[in-house]
Amino acid sequence: MSETIQAHGGTLINRLVEGNAREELLQLAATLPVIAVNKWTISDIDLIAVGGFSPLTGFMEEKDYQSVVESMRLSSGLVWSIPITLAVEQKRAAMLEIGQQVALVGELDGVVYAILDIRSIYTADQQNEALKVFKTADSAHPGVQKLFSRPNTYIGGPIQVLNRPQPEKFEEFYFTPAETRQIFVSRGWKTVVGFQTRNPVHRAHEYIQKSAMEIVDGLFLNPLVGETKSDDISAEIRMESYLVLLDNYYPGNRAFLGVFPAAMRYAGPREAIFHAMVRKNYGCTHFIVGRDHAGVGDYYGTYEAQEIFRNFTQEELGITPLFFEHSFFCTKCGNMASSKTCPHDKAFHMHLSGTKVRAMLRDGICPPAEFTRPEVAQILIKGMKEMDASLSESQL
Ligand code: ADX
Repeated sequence: MSETIQAHGGTLINRLVEGNAREELLQLAATLPVIAVNKWTISDIDLIAVGGFSPLTGFMEEKDYQSVVESMRLSSGLVWSIPITLAVEQKRAAMLEIGQQVALVGELDGVVYAILDIRSIYTADQQNEALKVFKTADSAHPGVQKLFSRPNTYIGGPIQVLNRPQPEKFEEFYFTPAETRQIFVSRGWKTVVGFQTRNPVHRAHEYIQKSAMEIVDGLFLNPLVGETKSDDISAEIRMESYLVLLDNYYPGNRAFLGVFPAAMRYAGPREAIFHAMVRKNYGCTHFIVGRDHAGVGDYYGTYEAQEIFRNFTQEELGITPLFFEHSFFCTKCGNMASSKTCPHDKAFHMHLSGTKVRAMLRDGICPPAEFTRPEVAQILIKGMKEMDASLSESQL
């Protein structure tokens, strides 16, 4: 266990059942009503199981759900900004009762992932959830679209997890929070900064990571590899870009790569809080929040994901956010900078639109090294076929 930081709520949750108890529960599960769960829900189950979502022990009951939606806190008062819910068809829910157990079974693979003790069955006001969590009810927003595509009957209660999803790729980069805590301790890191990303690493990412590394012992590079919107660059290409960058430009004893198997919510400010709490569970003491963290389109202000942290005391967050201004390469400074450090006119700041970068990559041309490391650009060129033409400017 990390000597330096407690899990959110004080205890690192473990809902995995093993050995004989697991065998018995698997037999029980075979007799229970089944709720089919998709990939997204399976990733939630897994993050609950290993304590990534500590203090959650299952899917949110109504009182926690309402409290999270309305005030970014669990009913206990603990900070939590994103609902973690299990949506079921109303017809299916009508056949279930509080006090009953159900088996959560993968809709595609038939694997029994968990048993849930039903403590709460409720109807969600998804319009209100959208407005509070995403700050919009516009169904063009990918998170809102996802929310509205789910039934509005939720069931909540603790889960006991019997099977974990098997990673399709990059298995060696999957770690539980207990494992990452152990790794940080074994490396002698007392302070660790977590970095969330869903994009290939460009120079601005590298700059803010390395700026943070100057003040902490280690970097936990923690790219999200769960479900993302279809026009985000694939996790595979992103992983390749991190690996080549780490090999060439990062001290091996100061940076550690492990994936974050959660789905991307695109909830901007609220997701920044959520990302920070989860990285605290992985053992991070610090967390980077740059410009438009977890944002999409123009739904959130550039620094809203930083400003939201003001709603909470440092003590109740229990992890230190490190805020970074929009960073860029300044040709006059001759280095990476931000408005905090560079006095020069915008004309000297290197800015390439996403459209321009895509066009270059598609033509097999590397963008300037001040924007993207050539090694990374090569990977992006190679992977360009997988990239959707509609990548937004914020993504590159
Ligand atoms: S995110 O959806 O995971 O936030 P992305 O991978 O682009 O998207 O960003 C990862 C982190 O880097 C976020 O904290 C984001 O705010 C920050 N970031 C990305 N680009 C910049 C930039 N040019 N300047 C400062 N921070 C940035």
